Amino acid sequence: MTDVTTGIHDLSLATAHYVLDQTTLARELGIDDAKLKDGLGQDAMSVPAADEDIVTMAATAARPIIDRHGADRVRTVLLATETGVDQSKSAGLYVHGLLGLPHTCRVVELKQACYSATAALQFATALIARDPEQHVLVVASDIAKYKRGSAAEPTQGAAALAMLVTADPAILRVEPSSGMHSEDIMDFWRPNYRAEAVVDGKFSIDAYQRAVVSAFADYRERGGRDLAEFAAFCYHQPFTKMAVKAHRHLLDHLGVTAGPADLHAAVNASTHYNRVLGNSYAASAYVGLASLLDHRDDLADQPIAIVSYGSGSVAEFLGATVVPGYRDHLRSVENAAAIDQRKTVDYTRYCELHDACTPPDGGHHPNPQETTAPFRLAAISQHKRLYEAVA
Ligand code: CAA
Repeated sequence: MTDVTTGIHDLSLATAHYVLDQTTLARELGIDDAKLKDGLGQDAMSVPAADEDIVTMAATAARPIIDRHGADRVRTVLLATETGVDQSKSAGLYVHGLLGLPHTCRVVELKQACYSATAALQFATALIARDPEQHVLVVASDIAKYKRGSAAEPTQGAAALAMLVTADPAILRVEPSSGMHSEDIMDFWRPNYRAEAVVDGKFSIDAYQRAVVSAFADYRERGGRDLAEFAAFCYHQPFTKMAVKAHRHLLDHLGVTAGPADLHAAVNASTHYNRVLGNSYAASAYVGLASLLDHRDDLADQPIAIVSYGSGSVAEFLGATVVPGYRDHLRSVENAAAIDQRKTVDYTRYCELHDACTPPDGGHHPNPQETTAPFRLAAISQHKRLYEAVA
């Protein structure tokens, strides 16, 4: 294996067609919207249209990357999701087809709740260390969905984040040291027969915090940096207040005294996108990374931490360094536009979309044209998902 610097060369955000404001949801649920906006740190959530899913969001996120860098060197596509559309076929293959990627390419889907994009990033860096000429397209795409009326409903959301992982990256160098924590627990899961996740909310928060402490201890034992060296932290954000909670918990555990201003400086820049998109499960920590890079202007040569947590559970604490000149390669304007161009959905339509079921009968089921994204799920017909490029 050669000694190659690997990491993120490009990253691009996509989300769903609709947005539901937390004030609307709070009014319908009969709760104080301050609980959602201040207590959870969520202002809004993305809601997919009838003709959107994880594939359309993933292809929409990845297309600008392929447009900029070409497809010739893409030898691997890793699609990270816990909103799988098929038990057998990788959702990545639909994305591969929609983007016209080369046949000389391996494509696979990865699952471990919200953690899998970090596994994909690590696998990508290993592939590139062996073959520095290849590019790996990592796409995390998820739709967070809970039972309507449950405490978890305000923490729904949807987004996709695509990353091109290469040698000699232009944006972020992934450092070799990382710390892990895995344990078999039931804090959040989705059995195959359910469209909505099951969650033990308070236990999941405790489990997340415990896993972060353990992953950081492992990171330090393996020669990782002191926590004080990091300029910023990108935590997995099921709701943005969770990043603050997790960081405060880690600092408390290490005996570090930190006030609100310290916590704000450490995590706030990473929360702007998640605050209005909602939970995007596997994509969430990397949506946080995009938010951090788009909103802080002093990160060249600075170490940052990515803190990934997936229920069930696996956590990883990962160090990375921001590459000088990175701002020239960001998509800050496009990322903001993807968020701003969403259409407000009224509560009735939100409920219809939320409660819609995939027809299991093998008939021809066209979807109304609703999304303005470049890709849509046109129909489900004879048990096949029929996607089309519309722009
Ligand atoms: N004004 C301001 N704040 C208020 C308020 C008001 N009127 N009313 C309540 N609050 C505050 C509460 O004090 C609380 O803040 P603290 O935790 O800082 O004390 C916050 O709002 C939330 O209130 P509750 O704890 O009463 O909320 P809840 O019990 O109704 O539900 C939840 C919260 C458990 C997170 C629920 O939304 C949930 O189950 N979400 C899904 C699970 C989840 O996201 N778990 C996170 C860890 S697991 C993970 O990360 C994987 C993943 O992606 C799912």
